[in-house]
Amino acid sequence: MSNKIGVIGDGHVGSTVAQQLILTGLVDDLVMIDVNEAKVRADQLDFQDAMANLKHHTTITINDYSALKDADIVISAFGNIELEAGGERFAELNYNRERIGDIAESIKKSGFNGILVAITNPVDAITNMYQELTGLPRKHVIGTGTLLDTARMKRAVGERMNVDPRSVEGFNLGEHGNSQFTAWSTVKVLEKPITEVAEAKHLKLEDLNDEIKFGGQTVYKGKQYTNYGISAAVTRLVETIESDAHTEMPVSNYQEKYGTYLSYPAIVGRDGIVQTVELTLTDEEEKKLKASAETIKEKANK
Ligand code: 2OP
Repeated sequence: MSNKIGVIGDGHVGSTVAQQLILTGLVDDLVMIDVNEAKVRADQLDFQDAMANLKHHTTITINDYSALKDADIVISAFGNIELEAGGERFAELNYNRERIGDIAESIKKSGFNGILVAITNPVDAITNMYQELTGLPRKHVIGTGTLLDTARMKRAVGERMNVDPRSVEGFNLGEHGNSQFTAWSTVKVLEKPITEVAEAKHLKLEDLNDEIKFGGQTVYKGKQYTNYGISAAVTRLVETIESDAHTEMPVSNYQEKYGTYLSYPAIVGRDGIVQTVELTLTDEEEKKLKASAETIKEKANK
């Protein structure tokens, strides 16, 4: 079974996602699309120059939407990160809203009927637009959402508790943006609720909230973009879809209860969102999640 993936946008994120997928052997046929023909052709050639020294061969096509017809997954990585310099991901909305129409139309015209994964910010609103514009089933249109923010939470907690981030459970929920929050009631480490172990370690959880939520900005301030954290998140999401793993992940998916795409755990497999999950949150966390949903809807309609 060969894996065909399209990556739309060959900037810092798109090219790093392409590299991760090639190096991990998760893609056999890669379609890279970008308006900057010179750049995407150069990356195609650069990746082809890598093939002699890689274990897994990937065939690379560029700038051909019709090649997406039989793609398993299409990843949207286009955007203009500089617009987020002020720390607001919705600052990219108008720029990306002007471009998503043609892109979605080209995807639809290709006959693509696989899983669409959106990275493009503001990702919850963009994911919703992709679903509406392509007409793909909601369960086949997924945003990376707080999968990345949850990884930032696991890094921060892992550092304080001196454990591998992969040994920290729990989720950041809501907008992949400033109204997201760490649902501390879902976070467990050393087989105990973090609320129990934090006290023993004199760890004030509220001191971590902003470090986690604004982790993307911190990286941005140093290099004017982020790419490695998001690319690892997308690579894990792709692997989960391809292997039909049925893994619980905090991705941006359509939540009937809130009337929008937002990040809430769901079971992910080859058919996209294969099963919903019901969290037991505190009243305060429920209020934050509702507020985050309202923020997404309000900002998306500005
Ligand atoms: C991030 O959080 C920019 O949304 C991207 O790294």
